[in-house]
Amino acid sequence: MTSPIRVAVTGAAGQIGYSLLFRIASGEMLGPKQPVILQLLELPFAMEALEGVAMELTDGAFPLLHGIECSDDPMVAFKDANVVMCVGSKPRGPGMLRSDLIRENGPIFVGQGKAIDAVAADDCKVVVVGNPCNTNCLIAAAQATRIPKANFTAMTRLDHNRALGQIAKKLEVSAGDIKNLFIWGNHSPTMVPDIDHAVASVDGVDRKVRDLLDVDWIGGPFDETVRTRGKAIIAARGKSSAASAANAAIDHIHDWYLGSGGSDYVSMAVPSDGSYGIPEGLICSFPVRITGPWQYEIVKGFELSMGMKTRIEATVAELTSEREAIADLL
Ligand code: NAD
Ligand code: LMR
Repeated sequence: MTSPIRVAVTGAAGQIGYSLLFRIASGEMLGPKQPVILQLLELPFAMEALEGVAMELTDGAFPLLHGIECSDDPMVAFKDANVVMCVGSKPRGPGMLRSDLIRENGPIFVGQGKAIDAVAADDCKVVVVGNPCNTNCLIAAAQATRIPKANFTAMTRLDHNRALGQIAKKLEVSAGDIKNLFIWGNHSPTMVPDIDHAVASVDGVDRKVRDLLDVDWIGGPFDETVRTRGKAIIAARGKSSAASAANAAIDHIHDWYLGSGGSDYVSMAVPSDGSYGIPEGLICSFPVRITGPWQYEIVKGFELSMGMKTRIEATVAELTSEREAIADLL
């Protein structure tokens, strides 16, 4: 029998956790034959709520769920974890920027980064969802001396999926008919959605998305909607996105392990290797190619227009200034 993969999830009693755990247990993230053990971390005050979630997971009678462990201690929750999904942290409210959370949420990732490095499996893979996710991931990765830094990633898959959703709606096709778009930079309004290489299958024929859509719509409403969708959801729901965020986290880990299906690239925020002049080590969203189970590479060699270069420089400047704001945590 295949050995279970141990998946640690932080903030497991929160709203994203509630949309995430049942889908991991059902096999949507790691595949329909892969058993999982869930190792759930919460703050002490939320442990009772977490026990309730664990009861519901048990009541789901998921054949692939081979264990549920709940703890308020990262050294317990991350023990031998093969995957750590760092969700637990404060969400922003109306009128706030994600970067306003940096001094409050950043310190969480010092302790959790150290605990991952101390007790997780040698090949542990990490995705940071808690905002500001790129810089929180930078903090966690900075604590690692044993786990490779490349195993620390942050989630821009929600932005990627939002871009797919907008184009699919406009072209009246399914999101699954579109491939090869991606997001550059920070999970913030400075992010750069890039559709220059995107292809849509329309009536069974692959067409360049650029040739199908009005340039003013791409540079205007499309771009604005993708970059500010988080804020729009908070305004409409009174709370930040949860089910779509959980869905993106599932997609991020699924593709990293099992491949990106028909799309040649996906968006992941990963430690920069200096490609495209982006300073080494910054956790920046790139076009990423999945090259095997738990393997990825930054896709190199895209020719960038002057306008695209300028926008990428701006989002990278923001990442650099976030790094300066938490320099004491690195
Ligand atoms: P939530 O408040 O509903 O849940 C967060 C949970 O984390 C709470 O149960 C809380 O007790 C727990 N928690 C807080 N600090 C913790 C710690 N140190 N250790 C363990 N658990 C801890 O929030 P949510 O809606 O689930 O959002 C969680 C985070 O995800 C927020 O920072 C939010 O901004 C972010 N987010 C990111 C994206 C993205 O695309 N990257 C999308 C949506 C939300
Ligand atoms: C999102 O993009 O929906 C999340 O990052 C939550 C937020 O604060 O916008």
